[in-house]
Amino acid sequence: MTTRLLVTGAGGALGRHVRHGLKGCVEVLRLSDIADLAPAEDGEEVVRCDLADRQAVEDLARDCDTVLHLGAISVEADFDGLLQANILGTYNLYEAARKAGVRRIIFASTNHVTGFHRIGETLDHTSPRRPDSLYGVSKCFGEDLARLYFDKYGLETACLRIGSCFPEPKNRRMLFTWLSPRDFLSLVRSLLEAPAIGYLVLYGASANRRAWWSNAHADFLGWRPMDSSEPFRQAIERREPADVSKCQGGRLATVKTHAGD
Ligand SMILES: NC(=O)c1ccc[n+]([C@@H]2O[C@H](COP(=O)([O-])OP(=O)(O)OC[C@H]3O[C@@H](n4cnc5c(N)ncnc54)[C@H](O)[C@@H]3O)[C@@H](O)[C@H]2O)c1
Repeated sequence: MTTRLLVTGAGGALGRHVRHGLKGCVEVLRLSDIADLAPAEDGEEVVRCDLADRQAVEDLARDCDTVLHLGAISVEADFDGLLQANILGTYNLYEAARKAGVRRIIFASTNHVTGFHRIGETLDHTSPRRPDSLYGVSKCFGEDLARLYFDKYGLETACLRIGSCFPEPKNRRMLFTWLSPRDFLSLVRSLLEAPAIGYLVLYGASANRRAWWSNAHADFLGWRPMDSSEPFRQAIERREPADVSKCQGGRLATVKTHAGD
């Protein structure tokens, strides 16, 4: 059982969902963000912290046994911002976790680490990474750092390549990539509860009709998604012309990061 779970990025969309959904599943939730958070309730601790501040992150991780690392810039952005929040921030988090003796980290990676693979390919944890953005590259760094910290220090990580976690799928692409908030939560729970995960890379998608990704190697978790994008298909297909993207990353694979140079 997790005693004290640190959640970074607790003020974001997924962080707010987790705050509500994990209540009672762990003894103490330590919630942190660079932004303001609602005051701590029973079983919670609230700590404001910039992930780029090494000393502050070291203090933040103390006494925690598990971390759900959601804190990041979660969209394509300029490199300097990603460098601070996603690259330096994730390094600071892993160092702090190592020093604190954290047992396991669930790292919110993204499907955009493989976004340049073509639609029609079925990917799994062995597929080569083909990031579609600087954002995707910043998450590749996190996945490699996690590998290093497992091989060298035995610190377990699940690199969870989240698809599109929103209340509903919003467009044609999300008919394939959608991860319902309920399925996200049950997946996080199974990753917290599994006796041993080692270094695990898996995708986060609901039971959508056609899957782009296979998690067969992670069957041992016993996680079964409950939701599917299918009930939303008709409405989305009616209002949106056919998806022209050839790559799984969709818009991120086509937008020019350095437009205007
Ligand atoms: N929601 C999705 O569909 C999705 C898909 C793929 C990956 N992810 C990943 O999951 C995580 C959570 O996603 P989200 O949708 O809740 O994103 P979000 O943008 O809503 O939340 C991210 C949070 O991180 C915080 N943050 C940013 N920089 C920080 C810093 N320097 N120090 C501390 N906190 C900082 C922000 O204030 C924000 O509250 C992110 O890491 C994102 O990359 C999400």
